[in-house]
Amino acid sequence: MDLSSKKVVVTGGCGFIGSHIVERAAGVGAEVIIIDNLISGREENLNGIDGNITFHRASVTEDIEKYMTGADLIFHLAANVFVAKSVEDPHYDAENNIKGILNVLECARKLDIPKMVYSSSSAIYGDDVAVPTDENQPISPSSPYGVSKYVGELYCRTYTDLYGIDTVALRYFNVFGPRQTGDNPYSGVIAIFIQNALDKKPLTIYGDGEQSRDFVGVRDVVEANISSAVKPNLKGEAFNIGTGSSITINKLADIIESMAGKLEREYAPARKGDIKCSTADISRAQKVLGFSPTVSLEGGLEELFKLYQGKS
Ligand SMILES: NC(=O)c1ccc[n+]([C@@H]2O[C@H](COP(=O)([O-])OP(=O)(O)OC[C@H]3O[C@@H](n4cnc5c(N)ncnc54)[C@H](O)[C@@H]3O)[C@@H](O)[C@H]2O)c1
Repeated sequence: MDLSSKKVVVTGGCGFIGSHIVERAAGVGAEVIIIDNLISGREENLNGIDGNITFHRASVTEDIEKYMTGADLIFHLAANVFVAKSVEDPHYDAENNIKGILNVLECARKLDIPKMVYSSSSAIYGDDVAVPTDENQPISPSSPYGVSKYVGELYCRTYTDLYGIDTVALRYFNVFGPRQTGDNPYSGVIAIFIQNALDKKPLTIYGDGEQSRDFVGVRDVVEANISSAVKPNLKGEAFNIGTGSSITINKLADIIESMAGKLEREYAPARKGDIKCSTADISRAQKVLGFSPTVSLEGGLEELFKLYQGKS
């Protein structure tokens, strides 16, 4: 599929990752329809993005069929992204993440939209897996968020089997890059650390800081979405999207210090739903999607640091 002449729906298109997908798709000439309720995204994320873009402020749980008529492809990113919120209020999480994806898939079925790329999460694995983790490891989420993201995958596969909609699920590990905010303490640790470093505030580390994360650059995540969109017959398959290597939060703090100078560290109790070690085995994405991460953690952090310095 060549995206240039296509009509593409991006749910969650005002968010961190979604806005980069909007930019990439609009940049190659696609007509882009954004559906976002701005609960965690910002319309300013679209500033400076040129192209044929229409934004509808609406929830994916509402009647959104009217916005999707004639679409060739959906990138579904809209979701509750807060793990802690899912623990406090699992109904809220399920409403957005389970009812949301079901509603979007139903629109795809009724409107004959042939393809959907779904943003899933490494949170579906939980702690009880081999590391590096491949896609055949047991699914055992530690949070309602992990549960709802996995239910989304099951719906994708079912809609592929029942109706022939070509779906694919991308299990992101920890994504970082421009436009990420520090609002999300789970996924936004890099944004939080850099902002605190510039404000000379202490870095808060939950637990002993020896938990590891696989940080993947948002540009690479966008390319995984584009490859998945253009590749036919993925049939509900799931792919890990990370880098294949990880770093502990203590080491991340060391790198930030090497850029910003000595910083205080505050250790706080470990959080519910947080996993200990996380590293992706990306062999399947490399083989099937031609996925090849290009953003190094150090290079990406330097770029972000300069960007934040320019803003403050
Ligand atoms: N950032 C990461 O490290 C990471 C890791 C794994 C998975 N993901 C997944 O990637 C996707 C994008 O996450 P992000 O980091 O860009 O977060 P984000 O909060 O920046 O983006 C989510 C977007 O969805 C919108 N949204 C939320 N609920 C909605 C609803 N009911 N209707 C319409 N819009 C709604 C928000 O306003 C926001 O713009 C999510 O599905 C998330 O689960 C992200």
